[in-house]
Amino acid sequence: MPGTISIQQAPSRDETLARMRAKLSAIVPDVELQVQADYAYQINLLKRELNAVILGHNYMEPALFHSVPDYVGDSLELSRISAETDADIIIFCGVKFMAETAKILNPEKTVLIPSMRAGCSLATGITVEDVRMLRAQYPGAPVVSYVNTYADVKAESDYCCTSGNAAGVVRHLLSKGHKHIIFLPDEFLAHNTAKEAGIPFVRASKDGAQPLPEKAIIGWNARCEVHELFTPKDVEDVRTQFPDVMIIAHPEVSPEVLAKCDAAGSTKQMVEYVKKTKADRYLLLTECSMGDNIAAENPDKEMLRLCSHRCPHMAQITLEDTLASLKKVQYKIELPSDIIEKARLPIDRMLEIR
Ligand code: 13P
Ligand code: SF4
Repeated sequence: MPGTISIQQAPSRDETLARMRAKLSAIVPDVELQVQADYAYQINLLKRELNAVILGHNYMEPALFHSVPDYVGDSLELSRISAETDADIIIFCGVKFMAETAKILNPEKTVLIPSMRAGCSLATGITVEDVRMLRAQYPGAPVVSYVNTYADVKAESDYCCTSGNAAGVVRHLLSKGHKHIIFLPDEFLAHNTAKEAGIPFVRASKDGAQPLPEKAIIGWNARCEVHELFTPKDVEDVRTQFPDVMIIAHPEVSPEVLAKCDAAGSTKQMVEYVKKTKADRYLLLTECSMGDNIAAENPDKEMLRLCSHRCPHMAQITLEDTLASLKKVQYKIELPSDIIEKARLPIDRMLEIR
């Protein structure tokens, strides 16, 4: 993102503000930009002094997203970048499971997250005990954990995946002869991935193993509290009013919603769809800060707004807390060494599969 680099390299606080205004004045009120530019300038200075790298998820609020990250992207892209950085400190402007993944890939480095309150409803929706119970119910079935899980659950898994390569990981396992795959914890992503791979979806139960068809993806019951809010009627209403709209969804939405959309993909893939589309207008079914970020990058295209579902966890990460994170070297991600060791293999497998 050229805009991001240019704001980061601004030589003064005033120039930082000028560049942020040029990029964001249609989206962020000026009074807020004035405060945020001050933080952004200080962060960019300190970051260079400390040899720190800032990774920013696509759901960061626009002032932060465009002003301080060295890299922005989806979970998969940022994991890949974190595996290759030579910075001494990694600051993850995203949620805790993302920063944990960076720590697993960089056990010797300092990995910071600006707020420990940045959780995720999917990551808290599954425990190590749940994974062990499912393995006992379906012996021999490999466990694929979505990257939106905590490190202890990853350590119990055979593979990790993100929404960017979930179907690739499932196809890889099918090609190795597996017929049943446990896919955790997002019910909707598991179901949507099963559809994409052309095999049935079965929802697991604590009451015991379910009867399985010849091939199946066995899913759990966790959901993203943001993406589950979209309904098929939302999509129908928009299409009635704007028949030519291109609708792009994140695969954490329900299968019923996804069936009514034109395209689906990880946050990075959604960004690419918008760049490529020739449609006059588009609609994103995802977290709303990302809509702002894409609108700022594509001022020539009309983005429709369906609602404002903000992820409350991503919203915990602010420029103010990012500055405090650098100044106080807080909050450090610490994980037990045996968890780091066990979680590394499923993550490495995730990084290898497109
Ligand atoms: P991506 O991997 O597509 O960036 O998504 C992460 C996420 O938390 C979506 O809600
Ligand atoms: Fe988790 Fe949903 Fe927030 Fe993504 S948007 S971090 S899946 S709660």
